[in-house]
Amino acid sequence: MSQGIVTVSYIGATILFILALGGLSHPETARRGNLYGIVGMSIALLATMLGVVTENYGLLLGALVVGGATGFMLARRVQMTQMPELVAILHSLVGLAAVLVGFANFMDPNVHFTGVELVIHDIETYIGVLIGAVTFSGSVIAFGKLSGKISGKPLMLPARHWLNLVLVIAMIWFGREFVAGSPIGEGMMPLIIMTAIALVLGIHMVMAIGGADMPVVVSMLNSYSGWAASATGFMLSNDLLIVTGALVGSSGAILSYIMCRAMNRKFLAVIAGGFGTSGGSSASSEDQGEVVPVEAAEVASMLADAKEVMIVPGYGMAVAQAQHIVYEITRVLRDKGVNVRFGIHPVAGRMPGHMNVLLAEAHVPYDIVFEMDEINDDFPDVDVSVIIGANDIVNPSAQTDPDSPIAGMPVLEVWKGGTTVVLKRSMATGYAGVQNPLFFKDNTRMLFGDARESLDAVLKSL
Ligand code: TAP
Repeated sequence: MSQGIVTVSYIGATILFILALGGLSHPETARRGNLYGIVGMSIALLATMLGVVTENYGLLLGALVVGGATGFMLARRVQMTQMPELVAILHSLVGLAAVLVGFANFMDPNVHFTGVELVIHDIETYIGVLIGAVTFSGSVIAFGKLSGKISGKPLMLPARHWLNLVLVIAMIWFGREFVAGSPIGEGMMPLIIMTAIALVLGIHMVMAIGGADMPVVVSMLNSYSGWAASATGFMLSNDLLIVTGALVGSSGAILSYIMCRAMNRKFLAVIAGGFGTSGGSSASSEDQGEVVPVEAAEVASMLADAKEVMIVPGYGMAVAQAQHIVYEITRVLRDKGVNVRFGIHPVAGRMPGHMNVLLAEAHVPYDIVFEMDEINDDFPDVDVSVIIGANDIVNPSAQTDPDSPIAGMPVLEVWKGGTTVVLKRSMATGYAGVQNPLFFKDNTRMLFGDARESLDAVLKSL
């Protein structure tokens, strides 16, 4: 394939990637966005295989088959609730690829640069390996924390910020050694030492982050993996990889920023690592008083008598796969003239947009689904709020308890409405591991049980 066709294909793929990102910003257009991404990636792969890396097709196809089959099997097996873990481990592979490409590129006997060009090439290699190593080890730790294999508690080493600073300074120093040693064949040792330090930095940065703040870390690592891919593009002089990596890097950074705002965390503190580490916890259930259980039939009559109903879904709705029955109840209530709306917290569930995806899958109309900022002022006018498997995102202690791990996180102010019905199986805490004073309020009723079974019973009574 001629270089001209490769370039045109790369431009086409870049445009499709930009359209894909635009499409993914709304549930209504997300499917189309995905399609653009798939077509763009297919064009990019074909153009690269046919036009750029032409020598060893056997090896290339072998790698494609093994990689493609592994990805296919993983994607088929993974539960929707395990997506953040899958994303984290996939980010780690991007980081590892950047490290391996960096070393291979440095050892490649066919690369002959001299003077300024060699310095630039060495800096590209060094930065690529550095970002790749931080992304790799950080993502492995994020995977461990998200899957429960590593404790969600933040690791609070004494003087941890100083430790990070020392590691960064050491990497800069070894960078100087690397660039100075590379022309005389002495670059390998500083590169290896820096890689080891970057791996330690990645581990330390993510270990220091508390479980409640992991969503931001996942999107931040997404951003890092983009920059790692972009750095790989510079090493390989591949324009498409540079642009694609930059798109992933910047969109991940924007997403991290949006999530930081949603959780009231400081963006710069996230980039530096070691945030969200407040170890305090809210009072235990015994301190907070009695809860009032309720039966499904009673909830059904409350809903049927209401004018304004707000449904707040959370992680438990995803676990129970209750979205379809939620839609059935919505339909029945709307037919009875009840105004039913949905309030969605930006970090409800376990990944950005988790609830929107589930509700879209169940065909809940988009025009009754509202973001937290759009809906929070309306709770005083709501007769009944139904909290389906949500906990942290409706926890008032985020506003009242400065020692809580979720202190400062904006929450849906459901307690300001008429009656709040909470569907969950027990008095267990949510992701952040703190008790929720909402459950003990006078106007709260607890409907205990699996959300799908409880909603099934409510629907039958309706
Ligand atoms: P959580 O605070 O995790 O609460 C979920 C609740 O669902 C639990 O209290 C659990 O109580 C209940 N539950 C679980 N399975 C259930 C079932 N089958 N039926 C009924 N209830 C069930 O969820 P949330 O309110 O959605 O908040 C999200 C949390 O996850 C935040 O802390 C957020 O920071 C964090 N997080 C978010 C993301 C993103 S990007 N969204 C990523 C990682 C972490 P029982 O066990 O008593 O049933």
